[in-house]
Amino acid sequence: MTWTASPSGIPSLLEMHSTWLKMCRSIAELNEVTQIYRSAAWRRMDRVVRYAESTIRTANSPASRRGAKGRGERRATAASGRPFACTITVAMKTYRIALLPGDGIGKEVIPQAVRVLETVAQDFQLTFEHFEWGCEYYLRAGRMMPDDGLDQLRPFDAILLGAIGHPTVPDHISLRDLLLRIRFGYDLYVNLRPIEVLPGLDPPLRNKTPQDVNMLFVRENSEGEYCGMGGRFKRGTPDEFAIQHAVFTRKGVERILRYAFEQARQRPRKRLASATKSNALNYSMVMWDELLKEVGRDYPDVAVSNYHVDALAARMVTHPETLDVVVASNLFADILTDLGGALQGSLGLAASANLNPTARLGPPMFEPVHGSAPDIEGRGVANPIAALWTAALMTEHLGEPSAAERIMSALRAVTGEGRIRTADLGGNNTTREFADAVIARLA
Ligand SMILES: NC(=O)c1ccc[n+]([C@@H]2O[C@H](COP(=O)([O-])OP(=O)(O)OC[C@H]3O[C@@H](n4cnc5c(N)ncnc54)[C@H](O)[C@@H]3O)[C@@H](O)[C@H]2O)c1
Repeated sequence: MTWTASPSGIPSLLEMHSTWLKMCRSIAELNEVTQIYRSAAWRRMDRVVRYAESTIRTANSPASRRGAKGRGERRATAASGRPFACTITVAMKTYRIALLPGDGIGKEVIPQAVRVLETVAQDFQLTFEHFEWGCEYYLRAGRMMPDDGLDQLRPFDAILLGAIGHPTVPDHISLRDLLLRIRFGYDLYVNLRPIEVLPGLDPPLRNKTPQDVNMLFVRENSEGEYCGMGGRFKRGTPDEFAIQHAVFTRKGVERILRYAFEQARQRPRKRLASATKSNALNYSMVMWDELLKEVGRDYPDVAVSNYHVDALAARMVTHPETLDVVVASNLFADILTDLGGALQGSLGLAASANLNPTARLGPPMFEPVHGSAPDIEGRGVANPIAALWTAALMTEHLGEPSAAERIMSALRAVTGEGRIRTADLGGNNTTREFADAVIARLA
């Protein structure tokens, strides 16, 4: 029997199904094929088949009958009647991950995230390539990353970053020359930050339950207050002054609002809160509010609230249960999500994803919200949860939601059990011990 590939070169399941049925020469054979079809292994392969380059060989030759071995291959041999062999060889989907552990505790939590990722990568493969860019690199080379750094990272499927920053390098250099260069360079205009309380961890708010804190922050990530435009004049003189511009474009504001509305629409509560400050910022935030109304007309099913950012900060503490999806500018959301991390129980818990959902100028980047924490670096006590949660966001975004769910279930199981905790959560376990517990749950 000759297999004819689909026009795309990747056989659809329907095509494979009909080929298999045509091959059956008895009811027993048909039953056997149907069994394979119902198996969990086949369902897992379904996803692989959709994305992978596939080769199908079907024949009655002894060579083919022997050939059905190895990962991603399935063989059907008839229980009765004339035996036949059907071998499907599917290349495993492989994702290339660029690892930038960065500085401080970034170098301690990212290796644990890699161990967890290697444990969950069963139906797909991950390859990792290390980039030792950051403040140590800066002290040697005079820059945070090579001039062609963005070109080097571009072919990867994702970037997993630890944290950037060290007292030896001014923060405005380390942040701008690496982190912001990647975010702006690839136009990763969405910074997604889930704020949830994991089982076993009480939110540090009086009279609030873990269910009361469940927000998804959508941070504008490509312009606004972090555009880096401005200057200083008459440095060092009594007349010195500094100008720091904030740039808000219709395109930039519209697309982040639209993304936030889409996120709100997909969640059960369908609520969107926007952070403004239009009473004081009479140009940028007035435009932001106008566009909120304009874009909102396309989402009549989403309930919208507009809060001044200071009042929103207070609301996160007094009435967190009223907040679902929150959209805010680059600076506002940066500040509010550190408060979000505190509401989760520690900054060591907050995860984030930098995405461009509409175009690919480079790979998406995934990073914990926290910084390099120089006060605890080198002691092996940093909380790895933010990095592991970030790894889950990455696998989900790569198209492996069941791997992401497995990581999150294991995390929830370990925090829920309450035995293993790092110092920020009142325990005395190490970074590695927490990751060991998660890996034990995954095994
Ligand atoms: N995305 C990033 O790379 C990023 C983000 C924020 C700050 N920074 C940089 O990090 C450096 C330190 O900044 P900072 O002190 O303002 O913020 P930070 O997040 O590094 O630390 C704030 C506090 O939270 C604690 N903390 C943070 N992460 C923790 C973890 N995983 N486990 C346990 N405790 C944790 C720290 O010990 C510290 O007390 C600076 O150079 C700053 O520019 C980088």
